[in-house]
Amino acid sequence: MLSGWIPLQLLLLVLLASGRVLQSEAASFCTKADQCAVGEEVNPAASVAQARYDHTRIYLVQLASEEHVRFFQALELASDSCSFMGHARVPGQKLTIMVTGSKVADFDDLVHSYNVTHRVLNYNFQALIDANYLEVAPETTPADQFDWKRYHPLESIYNWLENLAKQHPSVVTLVDLGSSTQGLPIKGVRLAFGRENVPSVFVESGIHAREWIAPATATYIIDQLLNSKDPEIREVARSQNWLIFPTVNPDGYRYTFVGDRMWRKNRALFGICRGVDLNRNFPFHWNVTGASGDPCRYDYSGPSAGSEVETQRIVQYLEQHSQAEKIKTFISLHSYSQMIMFPYGHTPDRVENYQDLKEIGQLAAQRIKDISGRIYKSGSIYETIYPSSGGSKDWAHGHLKIPITFSYELRGPSDSEDLFILSAREIEPTASEAFASLQTIVQEAGKRGYYN
Ligand SMILES: *[C@@H]1O[C@H](CO)[C@@H](O)[C@H](O)[C@H]1NC(C)=O
Ligand SMILES: *[C@@H]1O[C@H](CO)[C@@H](O)[C@H](O)[C@H]1NC(C)=O
Ligand SMILES: [Zn+2]
Repeated sequence: MLSGWIPLQLLLLVLLASGRVLQSEAASFCTKADQCAVGEEVNPAASVAQARYDHTRIYLVQLASEEHVRFFQALELASDSCSFMGHARVPGQKLTIMVTGSKVADFDDLVHSYNVTHRVLNYNFQALIDANYLEVAPETTPADQFDWKRYHPLESIYNWLENLAKQHPSVVTLVDLGSSTQGLPIKGVRLAFGRENVPSVFVESGIHAREWIAPATATYIIDQLLNSKDPEIREVARSQNWLIFPTVNPDGYRYTFVGDRMWRKNRALFGICRGVDLNRNFPFHWNVTGASGDPCRYDYSGPSAGSEVETQRIVQYLEQHSQAEKIKTFISLHSYSQMIMFPYGHTPDRVENYQDLKEIGQLAAQRIKDISGRIYKSGSIYETIYPSSGGSKDWAHGHLKIPITFSYELRGPSDSEDLFILSAREIEPTASEAFASLQTIVQEAGKRGYYN
């Protein structure tokens, strides 16, 4: 089903069965082709080339002065051993930095020498990753055992979506946006409960590969929309059609299972490094701020606006369907930081319906606080998290004129000790509070006349 890896999987089986394959041959074969199957049992050699984070530390630093800002900007450019979550920008800012084991002594000395206020959030990141991989359901999990107590590989998610379309043919249609850079399909579903002339909600998730809670939340939302008996949810479900794509970066998502749990971008190859940050690649004020021109960096915006296959799939689909489907609401799911944000990211200028989006965002955040006590911040991207350009929702709002446009940063908090490695125990509470707040967004936008 996932064209691109099945033939290799079969080939590997044949090689293994013939008993002639050496460990090193299998490993280099697998790494070079970058096409290892997700299934661990068929491909033990895949683990040989997996990224490790043993003794990698996570630091939270607070920048006290302009001098600190310049210092950390220089450090980010100079050192491959420090991965920054965001960039150093302003005094007063807190910054999370992942420091590899070989750099720990040097880094710790530097923060002391420059009197940088700091806290070690984690002393051995690999332990967290190991625990997280134990929370992954087998790829062979049958669709009727799909759940939100574990994380699921791409193949299981797609099987589950296909099964839904078979089980509920009058409501669920499978939609394939087309294939990714490495030839995987970008699958999602359209849910329509049969009410005439309703607008649609588009949900995009998994654009950043390592943010596993996003696909888990998207599938939870699909399940609730289909199966919840709660009358309030049933009414919200029927008031819209739903276009939901849990994993719009399938190559990257697959790679987080077999290569590097911390991978973020797609897997396109550019010289010595791979990957474009797809959420910096959309053709709207592309590459003007908060993006890198270097393919080796985590926020590489790509060689040109909309250069990436995955971006093009989403752009083409929305350009062809946003009118016919009456898409009035666009949601993208990310982690972490607990935020509900609206456009723009590239400028502090306010969108025309800023006041409505601000109020709706605040009500959505309040809904979460009422449910779980979790604090979500709300505001425009530029004012809430950091300036960035080429994001999907800026394009959806600014170019396609979809009025209600929000992106979530799901759990954990912005000073999380776990970064993107959210325990599977938190899938259900995270997804259910996010879904409740999405209902608030739809209800509030409806009250304000956006769906008339
Ligand atoms: C760091 O603080 C110490 C003690 O307050 C002070 O003596 C030193 O000059 C400071 N170093 C820098 C680089 O600011
Ligand atoms: C994108 O912006 C960066 C940073 O300003 C710049 O170095 C790079 O050349 C730009 N990319 C392109 C293709 O213009
Ligand atoms: Zn993200």
